[in-house]
Amino acid sequence: MDACNSGLRSFNREVATTAIGIANEHQLTKVVELGAGRGPVTNELVKHDETRGMRLLACDLVPNVGEYRKLEANYPDRVFPIYSPVDLTRPQKSLNDAVLVLAGVMHHVPFELRRAVIGSLSETNSQVAIFEPLLRTRLSMFMAVLSLQSLHS
Ligand SMILES: C[S@@+](CC[C@H](N)C(=O)[O-])C[C@H]1O[C@@H](n2cnc3c(N)ncnc32)[C@H](O)[C@@H]1O
Repeated sequence: MDACNSGLRSFNREVATTAIGIANEHQLTKVVELGAGRGPVTNELVKHDETRGMRLLACDLVPNVGEYRKLEANYPDRVFPIYSPVDLTRPQKSLNDAVLVLAGVMHHVPFELRRAVIGSLSETNSQVAIFEPLLRTRLSMFMAVLSLQSLHS
């Protein structure tokens, strides 16, 4: 996923730039990447000078401890991963006063849990930004038609 969204495509870079814009607009100095996996957005955020002085947190239901440790070791002044599981369906105080970034996560949350996710995010006083790596191209439209066909067969 990283190879595609950070390498072939600029998705994670664009998410990071947007998150910094939201942080600046709302004078927030904390950005939390939720459902972070390997933390691709945090990996992009640290490349920006503007995130000096910010607190960048990465977390997940299943924390990727190895990747978090690397990020923390490389940017100890900026990256503060959450090593315990953070379940998006449960509200938590650590998610307050921040820009909460979900990139490529919502499509992984089962439909029946999405309401709980939106509910718990709404209970924070944070700015919530949800991104999915969708791109409308001729190829993607063709693939979508094929998937609709397979739903009907
Ligand atoms: C497709 S991966 C995307 C990872 C990362 N955002 C990326 O773009 O590479 C979806 C992530 O959502 C996480 N996830 C799914 N359900 C979750 C939940 N209820 N709470 C927190 N994270 C969850 C998974 O553990 C997984 O790391």
